[in-house]
Amino acid sequence: MRFLVTGASGFIGSNLAVSLQEKGEVLGLCNLAPGSMENLKGFKGEFIRGDICAFDYSLLGKVDAIFHQAAITDTTVTDQKLMLSTNVDAFQKILDYALKIGCKKVVYASSAATYGKGKVPMSETDSPQPANIYGESKVKMEIAAREFSKKHPEISLVGLRYFNVYGPNETHKDKAASMVYQLYLQIVSGRSPRIFKWGDQYRDFIYVKDVVLANLKAFEFDGNGAFNVGTGVPTTFNQVIQVLNAALGTHKPTEYFDNPYNFYQEKTQADMTLSKKTLGFTCQFSPESGIRDYVQNLKRTGVPV
Ligand SMILES: NC(=O)c1ccc[n+]([C@@H]2O[C@H](COP(=O)([O-])OP(=O)(O)OC[C@H]3O[C@@H](n4cnc5c(N)ncnc54)[C@H](O)[C@@H]3O)[C@@H](O)[C@H]2O)c1
Repeated sequence: MRFLVTGASGFIGSNLAVSLQEKGEVLGLCNLAPGSMENLKGFKGEFIRGDICAFDYSLLGKVDAIFHQAAITDTTVTDQKLMLSTNVDAFQKILDYALKIGCKKVVYASSAATYGKGKVPMSETDSPQPANIYGESKVKMEIAAREFSKKHPEISLVGLRYFNVYGPNETHKDKAASMVYQLYLQIVSGRSPRIFKWGDQYRDFIYVKDVVLANLKAFEFDGNGAFNVGTGVPTTFNQVIQVLNAALGTHKPTEYFDNPYNFYQEKTQADMTLSKKTLGFTCQFSPESGIRDYVQNLKRTGVPV
């Protein structure tokens, strides 16, 4: 088997690329955001530096499956043209490449951002309500995927709506890294963890190892659609701090401050019924065991503070 992973030096892409090596030859494509080369330490496949918007895919030859992770992932980016050309137009280019080479499997990263401030738990049958241009770009990717599937049902095209992912290899994302990582950094640097009053807002935090597993399940699934990838469990920011303090053996008190944003998303929680039934996907890590595993990893690798 020969796989293409786009965004291969990014957070999720690097975890996926390394894991896929057990199944075959992996080609990694990425434009190499600053700092992310570190993520490719365990990667033995071929890495190609390139821009997904302008890349000549004919150079890659045939692949059996494409895992498309590359995107502008900073949700605060407001350049609409850049966001849509990178996240939507480049995706269309990848679909055209799949068609041209007869590749029968494309798995792509969508996002819980498609739900925006929708009700919880968030279900695939809910109408999209993206709250920013990033979320809109993911909705447009899913629309493009549906149109493509209608015309080319012979290609299995699966979108994965990741919820709030945390885990190894996210350091390069800086302020866009997960809240689990941000709070970890604050605690280990001797500061109090800082969150909006009163820390009872919640997220569906999912460990990156489970996101890799969801990709493998999507690879095995012979069909089309977009599916939630979360734990299904709401975890408050207060709970994250509690688990971090326990895992680190610290007792840092929480510092609460006023939330300045009126467009802030209070809650995310995935309804995992469809993913479980259709993809056979269930998380192996609870939020608590995932955060503990991550802290062990951060301690071992000595991430700079
Ligand atoms: N991390 C999360 O919580 C989360 C949640 C929902 C969805 N997602 C989606 O998962 C995917 C992976 O995200 P991530 O968290 O690993 O972020 P990331 O920023 O670490 O990875 C994205 C990678 O894409 C690359 N990239 C960006 N523009 C490119 C271009 N023009 N050409 C080539 N490469 C380019 C970047 O260099 C980066 O390495 C993205 O599609 C993202 O939208 C992530």
